[in-house]
Amino acid sequence: KIPQKKGPPEPSNPCKDCGEIINKAIEIYSHDWKKQEDNYQNFRSQLRTRCRGFEKAILTQANTQVGSKLVYDGEKKRSIKITPEIFSTFPKELPFSNKTLNTCAVVGNGGILVNSSCGETIDSNQFIIRCNLPPLSNAYQKHVGIKTELVTANPSILFEKYGALMGRRRPFVESLHTYGANTLLLLPAFSYGHNTPVSLRTYYTIEDFGISTRTIFFNPEYLQSLALFWRSQGLRAVRLSTGIIMASLALELCSNVDLYGFWPFSVHPHGFHALTNHYYDNRQTKTKFHAMPAEFDLLLKLHSQGVLRLHLGDCK
Ligand code: CDP
Repeated sequence: KIPQKKGPPEPSNPCKDCGEIINKAIEIYSHDWKKQEDNYQNFRSQLRTRCRGFEKAILTQANTQVGSKLVYDGEKKRSIKITPEIFSTFPKELPFSNKTLNTCAVVGNGGILVNSSCGETIDSNQFIIRCNLPPLSNAYQKHVGIKTELVTANPSILFEKYGALMGRRRPFVESLHTYGANTLLLLPAFSYGHNTPVSLRTYYTIEDFGISTRTIFFNPEYLQSLALFWRSQGLRAVRLSTGIIMASLALELCSNVDLYGFWPFSVHPHGFHALTNHYYDNRQTKTKFHAMPAEFDLLLKLHSQGVLRLHLGDCK
């Protein structure tokens, strides 16, 4: 058992506001959480009018036309014309149900999940979103769960772990079995130019192997409007992190949004012991692009307003 210290030590990563955010989080988290329906409805309708994630977050044959031009959200000078070939990779309709889902969990990859025993609680949600093809092997299941309705994949993982799908593709296809049948695999295919070919290869690989995973692509226009939305809330970051993108989309899709694994600090909020950056490794986040502590601060505000619920404690 780790002895309790008096207060949280300074985090080892350089972040000038982190100590303050950590203390604030501990204070807010010591109070009971209650959903505040008005605040939730209000925030959700702002997202629905300004970003329209429900209709637009995913490219479909219904919301995009052959011949239309998409502007890459990460490279504004680059655009692509939707050819019939690219169009044929889009699903006919939105992959989400028309009815608002009841409970959604967005699982971030933070080291705070280690030994959390949150697996069962996470898996009890109706719709579970995970980020960046995280490992869900037996060793992790008790703490992070296994059920997955939607998982995102950053093309950098496809490059680093699966040779950009230029050679043997079976290891990639086998890795997808972890997430179960009919899972949605969401890729930012039109965020940067180099994302497009590897995302299309992902679609073709899954089609060729005949597995039930459904590949879908982010609409860059949605990502752009979401970046503007969060900027208007005070966020100054080059890129939004996958976690805040998925939490935002979940708020449009679900009545109750619970976040797990969101804690971009190197000390545990209760035990004050050191944490790895991810529950499965200690690879650091590129602070040049993302501002996870600032994002966390905004999510903490939503938690305190009863819009969504952050989980920072153990589940049992
Ligand atoms: O691809 P990206 O760097 O955005 O994310 P990741 O490291 O694979 O983790 C997925 C998401 O979990 C992030 O986008 C963050 O929102 C969240 N996260 C966190 O809040 N705290 C951490 N220590 C690590 C990840």
